[in-house]
Order: sequence, then structure tokens, then C-alpha cells
Amino acid sequence: VLAAEDRAAVRALWRKLGSNVHVYTTEALERTFLALPSTKTHFHHLDLRPRSAQVRAHGEKVAFALTVALDHLDDLPRALSALRVLHSHKLRVDPVNFKLLGHCLLVTLAQHYPGDFSSALQASLDKFLSHVISALAPSCR
Ligand code: HEM
Repeated sequence: VLAAEDRAAVRALWRKLGSNVHVYTTEALERTFLALPSTKTHFHHLDLRPRSAQVRAHGEKVAFALTVALDHLDDLPRALSALRVLHSHKLRVDPVNFKLLGHCLLVTLAQHYPGDFSSALQASLDKFLSHVISALAPSCR
């Protein structure tokens, strides 16, 4: 379980991001595609050009899922079970890719919120994302 201080730190940042969480998840997806182009093969049916509406729409879905996760920290495996089945069984996403996307989200948030991004906040966000990732891809610890 995520410690109370980590929850508080991530929730405070989320409140600050407000309705813009999707802006940063979209940027994180774009950074993931650039950092490891093989991740794009999962999205061959989408238009992946910069500022593509389809990537943004996908970023919105990821943002929504992360917000749901933040609201269900005590029951992540159940809250994310449909997404786990989708990603691991149907899409067969390599677990390393989750870590890369999480890393890209950290970098994105650090760039846009440098004043907030203390090492303590980085650690809290990293733990939150690790919890989400282990619920989505149980083989990835
Ligand atoms: C779909 C969340 C990581 C590939 C989705 C959806 C959500 C989501 C909410 C939409 C599901 C639906 O429409 O029912 C997340 C979260 C992630 C994550 C929270 C990590 C924190 C990844 C990674 C990859 C990936 C690392 C591959 C590199 C896909 C693909 C789809 C999908 C291919 C289907 C897209 C489509 O056909 O429109 N994901 N995802 N996801 N995800 Fe992820």
C-alpha cells in the first residue's frame, strides 16, 4: 500500500494539474514513442504524428485511468483489472514499456512543474506509478 504521505503528495499535485492531466499523459506518450520507437507498433492503427488528435484522445484515456487509480489506491488490482486483461492478455504489451511510460510521465511533470518537483515528490510519484504498473502488469515489479 502507498503510504499516507505519498498519497497526500500525489493528490496535491493532481489537484494542481486539475483538468490538464491529459496534457501531460499525452506528452508522456509522445516522449515514449520517441525514446523507444518499437512502442509505436502497438498503435499502428493510430495517427502518431506530433499533436495528433488520436494520440491526445489516448492520452485522455490514460489520464482518466490514472485518476481512477488515485481514487482506488486500496484496491488497485480490482480497479484496474479490465485494463490489466486488455494490456497483458489482449495487447501483450511488454512490461518494460509500462516503466518507460511511467518514467516519461515523471520527466514531463518535472519539466512543467519544476518548482514542485522535489526529490520527495519524485519518490512519491514513482511509488504511485509503480503500484499502478504492478496492478496493470503483475509480472513487472
Ligand atoms: C489502451 C491505460 C500503458 C498500449 C488503453 C486504455 C487505457 C490505457 C485507459 C483504453 C482502454 C479502453 O479503451 O477500454 C494505460 C495506462 C498505462 C498504459 C494507465 C500505464 C500507466 C500502456 C503501454 C502501452 C499501451 C506502456 C504500449 C506501449 C495500449 C494500446 C491500447 C491501450 C495499444 C489500445 C489503443 C486503441 O486501440 O485505441 N491504455 N495504458 N498502454 N493501451 Fe494502455
